[in-house]
Amino acid sequence: MSRSVARRVLPWPLEINSDRLLRRIRELGLIGRNSATGGITRTGFSATDREGRDYLINEARVAGLVSRVDAAGNILIGMADGQGQRPTLVMGSHIDTVVNGGRLDGAYGVLAALEVLQVCAESDFHGSCELMAVAFANEEGALFPQPFFGSMVVSGRLADLPAEPQDHHGHSLREPLKQVGGDLATLDGAVWPAGSVAAYLELHIEQGPVLEHGGHQIGVVDAITGRCILTVEIHGTAAHAGTTPMDARHDAVTAACRVVLAVESLSRDRQVCRVSTVGRIDVHPNSPNTIAGVVRLTADLRDTDSKRLSEAETAIRDTMASLAEQTGTEITVVSRVRSAPVSTSAELRTSIRQSAAELGFDHITLPSGAGHDAQMVAGVAPIAMIFVPSRAGVSHCPEEETDADHLMAGAQVLLRTAIHIAELHETR
Ligand code: HGY
Ligand code: MN
Ligand code: MN
Repeated sequence: MSRSVARRVLPWPLEINSDRLLRRIRELGLIGRNSATGGITRTGFSATDREGRDYLINEARVAGLVSRVDAAGNILIGMADGQGQRPTLVMGSHIDTVVNGGRLDGAYGVLAALEVLQVCAESDFHGSCELMAVAFANEEGALFPQPFFGSMVVSGRLADLPAEPQDHHGHSLREPLKQVGGDLATLDGAVWPAGSVAAYLELHIEQGPVLEHGGHQIGVVDAITGRCILTVEIHGTAAHAGTTPMDARHDAVTAACRVVLAVESLSRDRQVCRVSTVGRIDVHPNSPNTIAGVVRLTADLRDTDSKRLSEAETAIRDTMASLAEQTGTEITVVSRVRSAPVSTSAELRTSIRQSAAELGFDHITLPSGAGHDAQMVAGVAPIAMIFVPSRAGVSHCPEEETDADHLMAGAQVLLRTAIHIAELHETR
């Protein structure tokens, strides 16, 4: 049914409703919050993640928008009168968090996208693209170690996902995914058809010190770091801590400690890649008077250069093989998630810069040291990212914070860029 929409002259500039956006950031930030530490834990597909999802879906409903959950558990929010035949301008991020994380990483970008759709709906703005806000499922991979799960599915990277994803304790994703409305058996139905997405815009906190240090309000991201996450299992021999002679031990913990230091040395000493981190260690049986039999840990390697990233992965695999021999343990990589470094769209960067300049915001171009769903979507659409400063440059911790005026500036740039893109698209 063609809709002859009388194109209204837009009340320019359309304004973000600051109070509404700050209220939603505040409210969502209470879900999964630990009152003792102030940290937020909404790990992907957990009970608190489900609460956050319910909150977002309800806010979309109250805003007069429509939402649905795809087979991967992504929440897709659209205009009530969206037609769906036109290319879609997608904006969003994720609402799952790391353990004891902050309230803005991901959530800010999703709620700002929701706000943009609501402002456009209220202003009866019907540009040349469909507008969609998305909350990608399990971006962090904090409980189920398949980060970017939702964005990998929509960008068709099903082959890079395990057939039976499990959490760190071996529990299948099947049921938790079903509980949020997804379906492991029909992931292919969630893949975005080629050409269906005109552009993807992600607004995010910088999570680093550059913008604040330089006194800049807006960051225009030119590249997103590549990343290789290895989940490693070290199998030794569980034994009595008192009766087992030191020269008869195959201690999984001491072997793991050497792996941890080898991972750190990759970047700190050998400069094979930019940064390298072991952020999670599980010891089994984790009992004071038992020599551990198994340790499972994650090694997170990053670099903006694909070749260096591959060399770093090869180097740590070689080191682990020799450590296994030296310690009499078995060291195996049980899972590997790799996201290539990507560049953002030059055309979209120009549009963001134009928006920031029109709004009078000081802006610079910078790379992202954090990974983002945008780098998965880059496989199927032009992408761009807008950063706002992080206070003291910290993130993935309760102290993660950004000044309200910076939050509003970012959302305003997102809104204006979305409209520029919609108009730009119209001129094609
Ligand atoms: O770890 C990251 O870079 C992102 O926060 N998921
Ligand atoms: Mn994060
Ligand atoms: Mn994030």
